[in-house]
Amino acid sequence: LQQSFTSIETEVGDDGVAVLTIDRPQALNALNSKVMQEVVSACLFLDRNHPAARVIIITGAGDKAFAAGADIKEMAAVSYAEAYNTSLLNGWETLRSVRKPLIAAVNGYALGGGCELAMMCDILLASDKAQFGQPEISLGVIPGMGGTQRLTRAVGKSRAMEMILTGARISAQEAVKIGLASRAVPAAELMDEARKVAKRIAEHSTPVVAKAKECVLVAQEQGLNEGLRFEKREFWSCFALDDQKEGMAAFVQKRKPDFKNK
Ligand code: HXC
Repeated sequence: LQQSFTSIETEVGDDGVAVLTIDRPQALNALNSKVMQEVVSACLFLDRNHPAARVIIITGAGDKAFAAGADIKEMAAVSYAEAYNTSLLNGWETLRSVRKPLIAAVNGYALGGGCELAMMCDILLASDKAQFGQPEISLGVIPGMGGTQRLTRAVGKSRAMEMILTGARISAQEAVKIGLASRAVPAAELMDEARKVAKRIAEHSTPVVAKAKECVLVAQEQGLNEGLRFEKREFWSCFALDDQKEGMAAFVQKRKPDFKNK
């Protein structure tokens, strides 16, 4: 997995937790096309071909940035025709097909595409030093990796408008308050906390975790009626897995479950 990558690092532990680090600290981990290609292909590989990886943590190298956005130097001279014809930045949407949980461990600036990448993840944990923002407006563009959609769903119209129209940054504490991040922890504890959450998820049945994740995402993407129907079918289908029998038997027998489908 590791060898061919130059802009990211990956590591898979024996606890089911994979850590993917965006590794361009000299450019505050700006997301150029190489980073996009490598993050996407590593996530797809970990998702489909690496059973030992059950949860993926994404973070940034260094202590300044998760990612300070799409790479402005790479985009500066792009014409409209090129942006359109090459579907500029569209590759990131491939992450939507990852079924294993993605945790963003936001260790510093999460700006523009960096904030959008963090929001593509399923759980967003922040260091207390992190800062979030959608500064695209000051560059003469708008968010293009889902920011107008995911931020609005995460924090509501008024806050999303304020951030997207002013380009102003918010603190980790503010991000937690408005529901963008689930928690802020001291910077030195961020990776330990992220691992703790990931390990806890990794103890559960992999297909059941994937079903739960998919149902929550449907809540963001579809209406209540469709969502409830979808959830019910996924809930019923859990009863086709040994893991449901094991999980419930373990509860009744007052022991820890030993899920087979991990
Ligand atoms: C390319 C970047 C970069 C970026 C930082 N760098 N952000 N390079 N793309 N997004 C580079 C700087 O050019 C500099 O390189 C080095 O990283 C260190 O950055 P400094 O600015 O010197 O650091 P500092 O003074 O601490 O300021 C940190 C910062 C600032 C506030 C985060 O770097 C900044 O404002 N960055 C841009 C943030 C942004 O606008 N992001 C949105 C991008 S657009 P050198 O070579 O000088 O050392 C986007 C679009 C999404 O994401 C999709 C829609 C199209």
